[in-house]
Order: sequence, then structure tokens, then C-alpha cells
Amino acid sequence: MSKSRGMSVPSEKPTILVTGGAGYIGSHAVLALQQAGYQVVVLDNLVYGHRDIVEKVLQVELVVGDTNDRALLDRLFADHAIAAVMHFAAYTYVGESVTQPEKYYRNNVVGTLTLLEAMVAASIKQFVFSSTCATYGVPTIVPIPENHSQNPINPYGITKLMVEKILADFDKAYDFKSVSFRYFNAAGADPQGRLGEDHQPETHLIPLVLMAALGKLESIAIFGTDYPTPDGTCIRDYIHVTDLAQAHVLGLEYLLKGGQSDVFNLGNGSGFSVKEVIETARQVTEKNIVAVEHDRRPGDPPALVGSGEKARTMLGWSPEYADLHKILIHAWQWHQKRHG
Ligand SMILES: NC(=O)c1ccc[n+]([C@@H]2O[C@H](COP(=O)([O-])OP(=O)(O)OC[C@H]3O[C@@H](n4cnc5c(N)ncnc54)[C@H](O)[C@@H]3O)[C@@H](O)[C@H]2O)c1
Repeated sequence: MSKSRGMSVPSEKPTILVTGGAGYIGSHAVLALQQAGYQVVVLDNLVYGHRDIVEKVLQVELVVGDTNDRALLDRLFADHAIAAVMHFAAYTYVGESVTQPEKYYRNNVVGTLTLLEAMVAASIKQFVFSSTCATYGVPTIVPIPENHSQNPINPYGITKLMVEKILADFDKAYDFKSVSFRYFNAAGADPQGRLGEDHQPETHLIPLVLMAALGKLESIAIFGTDYPTPDGTCIRDYIHVTDLAQAHVLGLEYLLKGGQSDVFNLGNGSGFSVKEVIETARQVTEKNIVAVEHDRRPGDPPALVGSGEKARTMLGWSPEYADLHKILIHAWQWHQKRHG
């Protein structure tokens, strides 16, 4: 285990362990927790995370290690008074989960189970989990409600559904309380430009479009123009990462106040097509982004849009940046700074 300590602000509020806090969504959650007055420790194996973001920007303690390392977890929980865990650490490439399923079951399921066992052993029983709309599979109702059937169509989605089921069983067995957030498409960046999306490799539409705007990619691919949507391209629900991060703080506080285990969608309830995203990016960046039309990819549902009503009602979640322009403006600001 290697550690590095940064500045941390004294606080009355408890210390939260954020796994995957050096990654895209986890780093924004760390910032939101800091702003809400919590102490934070990050656990990340840095396979995809960024040390500089945790140490230089967020300035919180970084424990470089893996959720599969039970001895490290036991030491971490013995050395720190952790009140609850926010768990972002996972592998997230859907295509790779099809070609290398064992990698996903080991990291996302076994790694999470190891973490949960270590938490129960340390009597830490409050957990906020990054689930995904991929647990629904191909929706039969849009916007998708939380009680929609869950039939994931790839191993990545199955791993997240398996963890949701493990969490339900841990509640029954150990009174272990969790909030699972099923996110739709995380997008955007910290409005002040401190953090943003930096996946290597990148597979998400918005950063790819912005890489094309920066001239780092020749063109952007549109997969499928014959879907039953107004312009024939797929529709997705894009959630600003700062709104996602805020929801995590609300989910944590719900648990700290004694809330029961529950599951919430994090979606805006409306979506944007691939062509709308590219057109908005052209307006925001004032660049000529070349789009090339291809056939459909297998397994892409025409529309994935989530009802966020339950999170709004029960947690008081109120997304600030549901507007696609704002999402792209913030992402563009970050991409120019990080990759320009
Ligand atoms: N990005 C999205 O649109 C989206 C949508 C739905 C769900 N999610 C979920 O949100 C979470 C965060 O996604 P992201 O886009 O920020 O991904 P990311 O890859 O940027 O962050 C994940 C972080 O976890 C770390 N990590 C992975 N396995 C680990 C392990 N075993 N031990 C310690 N650290 C480990 C990586 O190094 C990385 O820093 C993931 O669980 C993902 O499945 C993301």
C-alpha cells in the first residue's frame, strides 16, 4: 500500500472512503463531499485513475491499492475511522466485458464482494454504489422507472446487477444499508474546470466529439441512422457529472440519517440524439466536426432515458445542469485545458 497525504480541512462530519476516486465520476464525488464538509480517503489502483487529480487538485489522501486486496482493506479500515463507503471502482468497457468477461466478474463482482466483506468485518455498514442503466437491458418503457425488469445484455451490466443482488442479501443478513444509483450517461465536467473526463481509451460520445473538435480525431462515427427516433440516431439521457456527484452526497446523507436500502435512477427523463449532440458540439466549439455514418452496432437500444423522479422525491435531488449546451460547454472547457 502506498499512501500520500494532502491538505484536508478539519470537519465535524465523518470520513468517507471513495473507491475509484481517481476516476471520472469518483473524482467529482470527492469534490462534492469536500464541499459538503466531509473528510475523504480515496482508494484507487490507478489502472484508469489519475494520481495528479487526487493529489494536486483534490488534495485528499490517496491509498493506491485494489478492492481485491483484503489485507489492504483491513489495514485501511483499521487505520481510518471510515463511516461509509462510496464505491465507484469498476471496469466499465462494455465491449471488453463481452470479450474478457472474467476480468469484469473478478473486478466488479469479486472486488466488490471483498470490499463488502471487509466492511462488515469492520462494522461499516453504509454503502453508496455506482450501478448503471445497463442493468435494464433493452427497455420496454421509456423513461425507464426503477421497477422496470432487469435483463442486462452484456457482462458489464450483469456484474452490476449481481452486486445489487448481493447488497440486498447483505441487508437481510447483516443489516447492511446501501443506496444503488443506476446512472444513465455521465457527461460534462466540473463547471469551474478543475476536473473532467479523461478515459484511456475513450468510448463515450461527448469526449470523442470534443477530441474531433480539437483535431485529435479525424471524424466522429455515428452508428446507425435508421433507428425509430426523430432523426434516426440513438437517443441517450446525458447527466451532468456534477449533478451525479450531488446525488451521491444526498444518497450518503439519506443513509447516515438511517434511511433504508434503496435503488434510484439518475436520469433527466429526457434524452438527446447522437446527431443533436454533434450539432450542439459544433455550436459550442465553433469547429467543423466531421461525422461519418456507419451501420448500427449490435446491442444498442434506440433510446435509453431514465426517470429520475424517485431520486427527486425521496432524496431531494434537483439536477442543475440538465441542459445539453451547459454539459458541452463545461466538457469543452475541460478538454481544451487537458488535451488542447
Ligand atoms: N461513465 C458513465 O457514464 C457511467 C454510467 C453508469 C455507471 N457508471 C459507473 O460509475 C463508476 C465510475 O465510472 P467512471 O466513468 O468514473 O470510470 P473510471 O474508469 O473513470 O473510474 C473508475 C476508477 O476505478 C479505479 N478502479 C477500477 N477497478 C479498481 C479496483 N479493483 N480497485 C481500485 N480501484 C479500481 C480505476 O483506476 C478508476 O480510477 C463505475 O463503477 C461505472 O461502472 C459509469
